[in-house]
Amino acid sequence: YSLKNYNTFGIEANAKYFFEFDTVEEINDFLSKNDIINIQYLLLGGGSNLLFIEDFNGLVIHPKIKGIKIIEEDEESVLVQVGANEDWDEFVAWAVENNYSGIENLSLIPGVVGAAPIQNIGAYGVEVQEVIHSVDAISIESKNSVVFSNMHCEFSYRNSVFKKEYKNQFIITHVTFKLSKQHNYKVHYGSIDKELEAYGEINLKNIREVIIKIRKSKLPDPEVLGNAGSFFKNPIVDKAQADKLKAKHENMPLYEVNEMESKLAAGWLIEQCGWKGKQIGDAGVHKDQALVIVNLGNAKGHEILQLANDIRKSVLYKFGVKLEMEVNAI
Ligand code: EPU
Repeated sequence: YSLKNYNTFGIEANAKYFFEFDTVEEINDFLSKNDIINIQYLLLGGGSNLLFIEDFNGLVIHPKIKGIKIIEEDEESVLVQVGANEDWDEFVAWAVENNYSGIENLSLIPGVVGAAPIQNIGAYGVEVQEVIHSVDAISIESKNSVVFSNMHCEFSYRNSVFKKEYKNQFIITHVTFKLSKQHNYKVHYGSIDKELEAYGEINLKNIREVIIKIRKSKLPDPEVLGNAGSFFKNPIVDKAQADKLKAKHENMPLYEVNEMESKLAAGWLIEQCGWKGKQIGDAGVHKDQALVIVNLGNAKGHEILQLANDIRKSVLYKFGVKLEMEVNAI
């Protein structure tokens, strides 16, 4: 079963078995008839955060559950339950059209709603954990339905319980969001507020347009050039190490995380090592954002991985900083 159209890197890879489902009943039925806990399986959403290194010799499970439904509403907010396979950006567009705020800064992120909590997607000063009320999932082992409250998701930067102790153990079927009718705009990241000046008014629609403009100027469209967004996480290092680097490299971007730790910009580190725009075969570093690795044609997964490893080595050598992959290698 070809997975080429199921990964935004556009890598040619095959799965031995493939199962997709439209409803919770269907997946429950499938799980009751098949004990998949003992076989190799992969839960595949929009495929926008993974890299196939080789063929997948097991079962791919792909949720196709749709639907955007308001399940509770008061003067201040709405609770919206969304099917795992709704396109993330279409959901953002829906929220903006209906004048519900909270996710406008997350416009144009590729992928599906069910994947958003797994890595706690974030951009332009907002992380999805700020608006997730709960996550509906099915345990692969017990086959029971479970609701994770926001707290039980254990969100942190690009991380959640679904990437840690519950990795690959739950099939997410729906995510419920709490969106606000009273708007608290977040426009202080980068050049957002400056760009907004040209629009006159600050509202959800204009913020969405500005974010889309900024993303399009830096991040390649996966439909045109295969990629999975940021390939690495922004590294979180000891404050002492960060301050030492900052003393040596005045222009280095640096964000405070807490009293002990700071976050560095991986894109900046990679660019400083001379990788921006570099190409090895069909694997390349994007010319406008060094944090993004692109498939310039028919790159193989292992070629992309090789390039990534070379980048990690240079950054470690030049800055003493270890880059961690943000993308999942399969
Ligand atoms: N920078 C460079 N050179 C580069 C890239 C970045 O010098 O090639 C510098 C920028 O000038 C800026 C800093 O690094 O000072 C940060 O850059 P940017 O605002 O573009 O964001 P980022 O830290 O590189 C993160 C997220 C993105 C998200 C943006 C905007 C991670 C791993 N990535 O990137 O998320 O869109 O912030 O909020 O946290 C993704 O996860 O796939 C993704 C695209």
